[in-house]
Amino acid sequence: MINSLQSAATLANGVRMPWLGLGVFKITDSDECKNAVTAALACGYRSIDTALGYRNEEAVGEALRSAGVPREEIFVTTKLSGGNSYERAISEFENSLERLGLEYLDLYLLHWPRPHEDKYVEAYRALMDLLKAGKVRAIGVSNFVPDQLNRIHRELGVFPMVNQVERHPHYQRHDLRRFCEARGIQLECYSPLMNGQLADLPKTRAVLQPIADKYGKSIYQICLRWQLDTGVVCINKSANPARIRQNADIFDFALDADDIAAIAALDDGQHVFRDSYDDVGPVVHFTIEEV
Ligand SMILES: NC(=O)c1ccc[n+]([C@@H]2O[C@H](COP(=O)([O-])OP(=O)(O)OC[C@H]3O[C@@H](n4cnc5c(N)ncnc54)[C@H](OP(=O)(O)O)[C@@H]3O)[C@@H](O)[C@H]2O)c1
Repeated sequence: MINSLQSAATLANGVRMPWLGLGVFKITDSDECKNAVTAALACGYRSIDTALGYRNEEAVGEALRSAGVPREEIFVTTKLSGGNSYERAISEFENSLERLGLEYLDLYLLHWPRPHEDKYVEAYRALMDLLKAGKVRAIGVSNFVPDQLNRIHRELGVFPMVNQVERHPHYQRHDLRRFCEARGIQLECYSPLMNGQLADLPKTRAVLQPIADKYGKSIYQICLRWQLDTGVVCINKSANPARIRQNADIFDFALDADDIAAIAALDDGQHVFRDSYDDVGPVVHFTIEEV
């Protein structure tokens, strides 16, 4: 049972990654970002997810340093676009580390494959060298589909340790989850609350509210717990300290098979962000510029 904010998944190289973390996408105001990270660490979060493109690595670093939590207890992720050359990936890593004010990173991800630039294999090779050099404890990708994961394996001989993708009840990604599970790739979800839109959909409420009532939780808490109970590491975002705490209050229950079967019926492919499948189909909701 995953029963605390410190409960952690084990990645392919044995590194432990907390099941639930706070993401800081779109928190560009420095004080707001520091407040969010500080509130999260104070209530027990130990995983923080940022990216070069979020433009808040400095604020995250300041909050980490002032929190008084030992560095080795915190799991810090940042990301770089897969459209970078080997040399650029190495130098951007050093820049991120400096902005964060850290001596090492816990997880470094290629944020997007950017297949049209055809650089993600060489960029991933740079991540492998950073791993070998002990500058990062684990490496992976984000928004990659099986063909791209297979290409990394074919050309570099390894699968990424993590694939961070959009996932929520409307976009459950069963095939990708099975693919990753079979290859030792930890699936990690972003936008578990559908970027905040999830509870607005009447169909979603109709399925999730009875489950929420059964456990005395909110729809949001059910969606977060569902990720963990289906074996997926989860990053959620809130800039609001009260909601940051509420979203972490999911460790005193677990969904049963009937709940998971009911939620399965919501899977209709709606998603918020562009992903690599969108080359062959439209995004159902809206698109946010990739970073
Ligand atoms: N790898 C990628 O390409 C990628 C893409 C997107 C996101 N991510 C990562 O994943 C994280 C989470 O994804 P996300 O930011 O898209 O969204 P999310 O966690 O699905 O939803 C965040 C939204 O929900 C609201 N919210 C949060 N908790 C709530 C609650 N209990 N009740 C009501 N509203 C609530 C937040 O508003 P308030 O802030 O006002 O509470 C915010 O507007 C990001 O911060 C980022 O770290 C990665």
